[in-house]
Amino acid sequence: MITVALTKGRLFKDFIEYMEENGLNDYIGALMGETRSLYTVVDDVKFIFAKGPDVPTYVESGVADLGIVGSDIITEDEFNILNVSQLPFGDCHFSVAALPGQEEFGTIATKYTNVAFEHFKNRKMDVSLVHLNGSVELAPLLGLSDAIVDIVQTGGTLRDNGLVEYEKIMDIHARLIANKRTFYTKEDGIYEFLKEIGVV
Ligand code: PRP
Repeated sequence: MITVALTKGRLFKDFIEYMEENGLNDYIGALMGETRSLYTVVDDVKFIFAKGPDVPTYVESGVADLGIVGSDIITEDEFNILNVSQLPFGDCHFSVAALPGQEEFGTIATKYTNVAFEHFKNRKMDVSLVHLNGSVELAPLLGLSDAIVDIVQTGGTLRDNGLVEYEKIMDIHARLIANKRTFYTKEDGIYEFLKEIGVV
């Protein structure tokens, strides 16, 4: 049995679409069940559903052997994991966004303070960072910050809140991560699963 950590957020929908395109119907049936259970088992694979930032924590500890996580998470924080490969879904990017005509960029609200810190350091801009846990688009609308650093996928959230992108910081993709030990000790089971989902 191998354990795979998934997140039920934005990336989950992309993963399901990817499996639909590849005819992986057994997995889809189990993963889309209408239950609030936080794990499900399909043959020799146990899937657990964690919050995005917790996926690498489960993988690092070995509780999960593999994880599917956005590169945003493993760029923002360091984890002692194997960063195995990029996956062909979950594409989006980090951007600096603000109200149209914004000239001051002194205060930046974000969930991703490390990404934002590096970006503005490279730009040699002295900014104050305000850490928020989500819905960061509210911050410039209410005057909590001049701008935000956040994930943009369709651009719909920015548009619906009257914000525009000023600068793209970096691309984000789904990544396959693995525990450094069990990637080798459970090699057969892991290889079988990766073959099934078309990663090897
Ligand atoms: C992310 C991000 C934006 C939104 C962007 O939020 O923080 O709010 O997705 O997507 P879009 O460009 O397709 O509109 P997420 O759904 O991860 O939740 P959060 O607001 O709690 O961060």
